[in-house]
This record gives sequence, C-alpha cells and structure tokens, in this order.
Amino acid sequence: MSGSPNLEWAELIPLVRKDIWVQNQTECFCSLGENPCPGVTIKYFDLLIIKMREFILLALKAKTTPDFVLEQLPEAGRMDLVCRTIANTLYVSNEMRRDTVIHVSMNGPRDPPKLMSFYGETMKGLGMDERAIGEMIRNTLKKGTRLALGEEIEASPGIKISKKAFETLLKEKSQTSQLIYLHKKGEDIRTFQFKENNTFVLGDYIGLPGKTEKLLDRLGAQKIKLGPTMLFASHCPIIVHNELDRRIKEQFEDKSAQ
Ligand SMILES: C[S@@+](CC[C@H](N)C(=O)[O-])C[C@H]1O[C@@H](n2cnc3c(N)ncnc32)[C@H](O)[C@@H]1O
Repeated sequence: MSGSPNLEWAELIPLVRKDIWVQNQTECFCSLGENPCPGVTIKYFDLLIIKMREFILLALKAKTTPDFVLEQLPEAGRMDLVCRTIANTLYVSNEMRRDTVIHVSMNGPRDPPKLMSFYGETMKGLGMDERAIGEMIRNTLKKGTRLALGEEIEASPGIKISKKAFETLLKEKSQTSQLIYLHKKGEDIRTFQFKENNTFVLGDYIGLPGKTEKLLDRLGAQKIKLGPTMLFASHCPIIVHNELDRRIKEQFEDKSAQ
C-alpha cells in the first residue's frame, strides 16, 4: 500500500459521516461499497464501523413541567446534571458529534414520564453551557405539555419530546442496537467488542432501580465499566466517546503501517 492516509480526515470524518474513509492524493481507504471519491483508487478493508452512538440517561427526579428557574437548575430535580450530560455527550471542541444521540428520560414532578431526545445529526441552535441547555429543555417541556401517552413531537430542529416511559424506550432500542449498561462492575471498556449500533444506558446521581437492572438483563444488555472509580453521570459519555475515537483512529494507523 503506497502513501499514507491523511489521519486528519480519519479524525474528522466520523464526526460528520456515519461511514468512515480516509484519502490521500491517490488512494482512498474505504469500508463501504460506495466510492466516496470518484477517480481515486479504492482499497477496501474491514473496519470497526460504529454507525450510531446512542446514550440514554435515566433522570429519576428531573422536572417534567417547565415551572423551574434557570438560576436554580439543581432544584429542578438535578437538571444541572442533565444539562452537563447532554453537553458532554454531544459536543467536542466547537463541534457537534453528528453521529450521536442522547435520550433523557425525565421522571420528576409534575407530569412524568417525559422523554427528550437530542439528535446531533439534525441539531440546530443548542447552546453549549448549562443555562442555555436548561432553557432549551424548559422550552421543549412547554411544547410537550399536552402530549398523550406514546405521542411524540419535534419541538425544534434535532430535539424531540414524547410521553414515553424509560422501559418502553429500552425495549425498542434492544430490537436494533446492542444495549450497554454502564456499571462499575461490568467488563472493562478497553476489552469490550463493540457492534455497529450501541446504546449506552446510565443512571443519574441515584443510579438505576433494581427492577430496571433486571429488565436490562432480560433484554440482553451487556455491562461495561469505564474504570475503577464511581464517576458522575456527566463524565461517562466523554470516556465512552474517547474509547471509540481511539479504536477508530488506531485502525487507520494499523492500516497505514501495512
Ligand atoms: C453518579 S453514578 C450513580 C451513583 C449511584 N449512587 C449508584 O450507586 O448507582 C451515575 C451513573 O454513571 C455510571 N457510572 C459511574 N461510574 C461508572 C464507572 N466507573 N463505570 C461505568 N459506569 C459508571 C452509572 O451508569 C451510574 O448509574
């Protein structure tokens, strides 16, 4: 294999496309059937393809009605934690992870359950700081005030709200994705074999109730640990992304050395 791939592409492309490819002047290393750069020689090889990175946060006490003040997010059922987790899941420096989705299951007063989903691919206008995200959540809750059970609306580009229970979402996701429960006693993330579609489930400051853990078992969820220390929920997505980013980059480095 002549020449070496441009690794900057390898870093950038997974953020904006669901397929992955690298090119230099004359060659393109590609994991898909389509030719992403016509006129250039294609070299196919097997890659770890991770099409979608999906996260589900169970926020047991987060408010489900918009009657909270942005200056007091912790009092709104730890909405501060929810906002930090969203920011850490969707953003890298000055850029949105377009291949990432985070669902937040809100179960606090006064109209539980509410499910809010943030899609990196189509997201527009979401601020990066806690207050701005808190405001977006409050506006979304306002738009979702009269939802019937099972109903979903797109409140703004890339943000949906529905009246759906956490357990229902888990069952749906288990049909199309490998459920992965982030848990201190699971397999180390460093050795875990990922599939194409992965949905990472995590708790808030309270953790997951025992009956939900049993449901995850029944749905075939795999448990993985991120390290030896109990972390904040908002730390976890960064570590997951970092591991997946490293695995993808290492593959390109291995290939370019052949
Ligand atoms: C602040 S922790 C929950 C603490 C809660 N008191 C408990 O015992 O579960 C928030 C969530 O982050 C995830 N988490 C924290 N540390 C982790 C680790 N080292 N490995 C995997 N997941 C972790 C878990 O999903 C956990 O529910």
